[in-house]
Amino acid sequence: MILFDKVWFSYGTRQVLKDLSFSIEFKEKVAILGGSGEGKTTILKLIVGLIKPDSGKITIEGEDITNKTEDELRGVRMKFSIVFQEGALFDSLNVKENVAFCLREYTKMSEDETDKRVRELLQIVGVEEAIELMPEELSGGMHRRVSIARSLAACEPKMFLYDEPTSGLDPINADNICKLILELSAPPSPPLSKGGIKGGGRGFIIVTHKVFDAMKVADRFMFLKDGMIIFDGNKGELINTTIPEIQLFMVELNLKPL
Ligand SMILES: Nc1ncnc2c1ncn2[C@@H]1O[C@H](COP(=O)(O)OP(=O)(O)OP(=O)(O)O)[C@@H](O)[C@H]1O
Ligand SMILES: [Mg+2]
Repeated sequence: MILFDKVWFSYGTRQVLKDLSFSIEFKEKVAILGGSGEGKTTILKLIVGLIKPDSGKITIEGEDITNKTEDELRGVRMKFSIVFQEGALFDSLNVKENVAFCLREYTKMSEDETDKRVRELLQIVGVEEAIELMPEELSGGMHRRVSIARSLAACEPKMFLYDEPTSGLDPINADNICKLILELSAPPSPPLSKGGIKGGGRGFIIVTHKVFDAMKVADRFMFLKDGMIIFDGNKGELINTTIPEIQLFMVELNLKPL
């Protein structure tokens, strides 16, 4: 479980999170919604300890990560598979080397094992044919898939963290990424990979301002505004909300006329 207990966070004088408290189980499918600059990415960075709160406490599976060293945080980070915003790949490395990078960094696999694992991961996300391509040769959707493969490479995650996984994609590609997100967290069906990545019944947190995509994948919705969570509920509650800021977001769905 991820627990935020009265978390405050600022970048210099910019107060981003104010007294934020919530808990999320690893098996939940959560969307954190909110406008640009509201602190969505900041929350993900706090979860994996890339930044530390000014005050308050963050615990992961009961372990307080607030004062952990970089070394101690490695164990915490291994619990998560994180796909950062824009899923930045290394421009100078081809797809294979991008995905292999983490394997080389974190494991002692032989070259043959690495090659096999990279192919397996690319097959899981459906872009095996792109293995020799450079990032600049990939479409937006393929780029995102390779980023997901790379994030899956080195660990056996307990939860996926996706930062704007569908931003900049056309509706069809965005839909395909949503399907992939659901597939990767689906309850056990025969695992496709030996490592058992697919079908683990793991949850995810998707951070997005695209309500339409969030509605396709998540069961629980949290809405961040002015450093606070102003809504936390299920799909029905989200659709029927009377909170004006959220209603504005719902216009995208044509469910709530202006
Ligand atoms: N490294 C940084 N230094 C200073 N300010 C930052 C830094 N990173 C983010 N900020 C500011 O903190 C606020 C929250 O940023 P964050 O990236 O968490 O927002 P976000 O909700 O993910 O936005 P978006 O939807 O645009 O991705 C923003 O106002 C941003 O400008
Ligand atoms: Mg962001």
